[in-house]
Amino acid sequence: MKRIATKLAILALVSCVARPLLASETIPLKNCTWCHGPSVQGYSNAPRLAGQQELYLEAQLTNFRTHLRDNPYSRDFMWSAVAHLDEDMVRAFASYFASLPPEAADDGNRNLIATGRNIFEFGIPEANVAACIVCHGPNGEGVRTIPRVGGLSYFYLKRRLDEWVAGYSSAAVPMPQVARSLSGQDIEALASYLSFVGYSAGQ
Ligand code: HEC
Ligand code: HEC
Repeated sequence: MKRIATKLAILALVSCVARPLLASETIPLKNCTWCHGPSVQGYSNAPRLAGQQELYLEAQLTNFRTHLRDNPYSRDFMWSAVAHLDEDMVRAFASYFASLPPEAADDGNRNLIATGRNIFEFGIPEANVAACIVCHGPNGEGVRTIPRVGGLSYFYLKRRLDEWVAGYSSAAVPMPQVARSLSGQDIEALASYLSFVGYSAGQ
């Protein structure tokens, strides 16, 4: 443990110069990349971690450890994956993943982009749905503990929203309430639009 702490201290000191190289040598990335993909851009059911907000990543790793995030995929895959991470390691993973450039998944339905974008930017006043842009930012980039949603995969985004509707991860304020005000078609349109939103350009 002491050795890891020393390595992390060195990592923190030199992070501005050669963070990715050093981090990939120091952090046990393979424990994560075999599910999240070699550049953690997401793979199959495991979402993209590259470019995700650092404080959000830290909060989620803690939520898996305390089982606050209790949807089926978290229970089956993430509870055990983070069970032995200590706080230093959680911070090291979060800061490394946040520093990597994200790529848009581009896997939604293009015909729904305009509808999804409209809900994202203006909400649905008659259904009491707040505009997502207010919290998640113009390109869905997020801030602090609010996640980047722009460019995540359609399937992951849709599943997250559906699972909040179904009552899982109910401590994730305000999302369970937001999701419950959306129809199935709204969710499909939002997940489609967001899957095409690029890192800086938006859509
Ligand atoms: C066995 C496969 C597997 C392994 C190994 C794994 N993950 Fe995951 N991870 C998943 C899946 C599946 C999800 C999606 C959970 C959900 O749908 O809510 C996930 C979700 C996450 C999230 C939430 C992202 C978000 O946008 O909310 C974080 C953070 C994360 N993993 C970090 C890690 C880290 C760090 C490691 C290595 C220590 C790791 N994962 C190892 C499968 C895995
Ligand atoms: C009042 C602020 C707020 C608004 C409005 C809001 N969100 Fe969120 N959203 C959050 C926060 C905070 C989280 C993190 C929740 C947690 O702790 O897991 C989140 C998480 C998410 C996630 C999970 C991302 C991931 O990586 O797993 C998705 C998807 C999402 N929001 C989509 C939306 C959509 C679509 C809308 C609009 C219909 C919206 N949000 C409106 C604050 C907001």
